[in-house]
Amino acid sequence: MKTAFVCSSCSYSAPKWLGCCPTCKEWNSFTEQSIAKQRTSHTLSPSLTTMHSLADIEETSITRMVTGIKEWDRVVGGGIVPGSLLIVTGDPGIGKSTLLLQLSEQLAHHHTLFYFSTEESLKQVKLRAQRIRCSSNQLFFSDASDLVVIIETIKTQKPSIAVIDSIQNCYLSDNSSSASPGSINQLRESVFLLMRLAKEQSTAIIISGHITKQGIIAGPKTLEHMVDGVFYLQTEERWQTRILRSVKNRFGTTHETGFFRMNNHGLQEIPNINEYLIDDIQISPGSALTSIMEGTRPLLIELQSLCVKSKLTLPQRIISGIDHKQVVLIAAILEKYLRIPFSTYDIFCKTRGDFTLDSATTDLGIACSLLSSYFQQPLPDKSVILGEISLTGSIQPINTFASYAKEATSFGLTTFIVSKKQKTPTTLTLYAFSHVYELLSLFNIKEK
Ligand code: TYD
Ligand code: MG
Repeated sequence: MKTAFVCSSCSYSAPKWLGCCPTCKEWNSFTEQSIAKQRTSHTLSPSLTTMHSLADIEETSITRMVTGIKEWDRVVGGGIVPGSLLIVTGDPGIGKSTLLLQLSEQLAHHHTLFYFSTEESLKQVKLRAQRIRCSSNQLFFSDASDLVVIIETIKTQKPSIAVIDSIQNCYLSDNSSSASPGSINQLRESVFLLMRLAKEQSTAIIISGHITKQGIIAGPKTLEHMVDGVFYLQTEERWQTRILRSVKNRFGTTHETGFFRMNNHGLQEIPNINEYLIDDIQISPGSALTSIMEGTRPLLIELQSLCVKSKLTLPQRIISGIDHKQVVLIAAILEKYLRIPFSTYDIFCKTRGDFTLDSATTDLGIACSLLSSYFQQPLPDKSVILGEISLTGSIQPINTFASYAKEATSFGLTTFIVSKKQKTPTTLTLYAFSHVYELLSLFNIKEK
């Protein structure tokens, strides 16, 4: 029989035994395994599957399970869909267990929920529950971490929702698994079993998984394609907030974000995140306020630029949170049409709060921010800048301006810098331009 040496950690296969796996760098992980004969057309199983037309398939109406924690409900697409498998992931200590316990408490009001705490003992869970003032008698806990036992329990008792915190601490006790406990392969096998279980009996399963140094590629990332939804809980230092991001969601939109703050009683929702984002914005040269759509909600983001005469032959472009090429392109357009020698200037550009901008709607904001730093003059007080810039230097209107304007005006921001072609409500104060050279009128220009 033909054999190969397979890494028990990542399934890399080699014809000879190797001490260290070339892909996952695990030591001593190769075992000899027989290779199953390739199936030929002669050996295909004769059993057939029945094909169904759309009319034959039974209609089902989905009732999503809502927690009442609005930031979570919105991020998952309006509630948890029965039979879905979701992963909540993030760095250790970020607040995954706290979030899951809070969600569980809310869900247990209307649904049967089993909480498998594979990392913490029941006493530790109780301590956490007391801390977040959770006293529900409808919540049921177990500290079992054998996945075979967990699956059997879910199969026989059929809860509507099962929470497994965390998947990395689970193991498969039966000998059917060839992968070593805790390895990526076993993780994959576990998630596959849970996915089947969720679909077979319509139990929604939420698992947590932490990102380790290697895990960024090997842990939850490898599982992303197997599950229905992946949600990252991240920290954001500036406002001490926790951001929940939807990275994949079969039942909702991605790029949706939810904001929380960790206090002594668990995670608190921050429904008005824009209030934080603009609370101490200063009117200073180089600072420009723009807005981006995160999922379905516009966020107000401050751009900061610093342009200084370069002493280097190749001036520096140090840019974070914005696409490098976008800034370089806008600097080139301004140089071409305004004759501002940006190519001899060092350009530093960033977003406040480490948000990432990837939309052309911020073109005009970047241009105004660069010009404001170059002329060392602030832009009109608390003005929101929205517009695209074409390669010819013309300023173009953006789509869905109304939703950006609605959000900004709710915080008292009624001044906008936009394209002349932008259709806007009459209540706004506007600086409207059709070409980048008109932007000079925003500044008091003496000979530089
Ligand atoms: P935890 O949910 O255990 O993180 P994870 O499951 O992602 O590893 O959160 C742990 C951190 O949160 C820990 O540093 C303590 C802090 N915390 C609070 O500040 N307030 C609270 O009410 C709770 C429960 C935890
Ligand atoms: Mg935890």
